[in-house]
Amino acid sequence: MPIDPNKTLGPVQLWRNARLATLAPGREGLGPVESGAVAAREGRIVYAGPENKLPAHIVEASAIVVDCDGRLITPGLIDCHTHLVYAGNRANEFEMRLAGATYEEIARAGGGIVSSVEALRAESEDTLLRETLPRLDALLAEGVTTIEVKSGYGLDLENERKSLRVARRLGSERSVTVQTTFLGAHTVPPAYRDDRDAYIDLVVDEMLPAVVREGLADAVDGFAEGIAFTPGQIERVFEAAKALGLPVKLHADQLSDTGGAALAARFGALSADHLEHASESGAAAMSVAGTVAVMLPGAFYFIRETHKPPVDAFRRHGVPMAVATDSNPGTSPLTSLLLAMNMAATLFGLTVEECVAGVTRHAAQALGIGHETGTLEVGKWADLAIWDVERPAELVYRMGFNPLHARVWRDR
Ligand code: NIG
Ligand code: FE
Repeated sequence: MPIDPNKTLGPVQLWRNARLATLAPGREGLGPVESGAVAAREGRIVYAGPENKLPAHIVEASAIVVDCDGRLITPGLIDCHTHLVYAGNRANEFEMRLAGATYEEIARAGGGIVSSVEALRAESEDTLLRETLPRLDALLAEGVTTIEVKSGYGLDLENERKSLRVARRLGSERSVTVQTTFLGAHTVPPAYRDDRDAYIDLVVDEMLPAVVREGLADAVDGFAEGIAFTPGQIERVFEAAKALGLPVKLHADQLSDTGGAALAARFGALSADHLEHASESGAAAMSVAGTVAVMLPGAFYFIRETHKPPVDAFRRHGVPMAVATDSNPGTSPLTSLLLAMNMAATLFGLTVEECVAGVTRHAAQALGIGHETGTLEVGKWADLAIWDVERPAELVYRMGFNPLHARVWRDR
């Protein structure tokens, strides 16, 4: 429940003497406030604005006051697309690609996602958690306060459940909000190689209802591609998700144009992700549906894709763009959201404002939690990133340097 800003009965935490990038909608640029302050109570923002307009009752109720020394405060960052829970790594396939093999060739020869499936099935839940935490910690160290985590390396009920349980446990092991996504339709497990429809039956009839019943999934994702599933098969998964009341997302048009953007839009998807080969009409459909375009430049870079997502079409049609790491062992072993922003700018031509909105306001929208986080506004979670930078462009410009001064998750 949002806190009534006029009712400050409990202690307030106050950050003063800061520059703010509020990302509040309807404001110019990043919604800047030159001499700003943020106040929070019980994990929610009760004030974000000019210091000289801070209400007296908030100042009086302040138990902790932090002098930010003119530093920049942004909303806590949101990594809205990751496959963080996985076992082992695929450095061997990286070497194969350096020697000339393509990602698709390796997948068709039984490597790729399937090799990560074998590794994950062999691991216990506790080991998987232990292996995942350092990757999460790397993201948190750069100011991430919300992360989306997909399953998709289990591909049977027991192992998809295990992955999603680990994803949920990340949220109790660390101060971070975790949104989980069931990606049972990630690829075809070997036992179903000759009958993909039978695997989709299993996803729709057994796996999805079970993970929903157990409260393990906040959304449902799929991979529409030649090496994965047809649009028709993904539609079946989406219909089942909708019937169970879950929002959908899609790995769309990553390696070829399969009409994924339009498919996602038809189902009112929260987001369509990758989109390197998406068409103009796909972008138009996403705009009408309010589907966010999630840019994943780490995967583009790592598999040496050359076809860029239609950023100009997204701009023309007013499709909000998010930026995420896609952190995964096969196409994007990346655990830096700051570097993802840099790549979105240098490789895809996003502006600084688009990059920063892409890891805050639009990333929240891509997860369906735009009413809770992604901007510095009264009522939202007190998730803050405090930076040692002169100008917001520095968040995008540097490579491999972390200017985070402090990170606040729900005012802790
Ligand atoms: O987002 N495109 C499909 N899924 C992942 C890759 C997964 C893998 O190769 O392990 C992606 O790129
Ligand atoms: Fe992905």
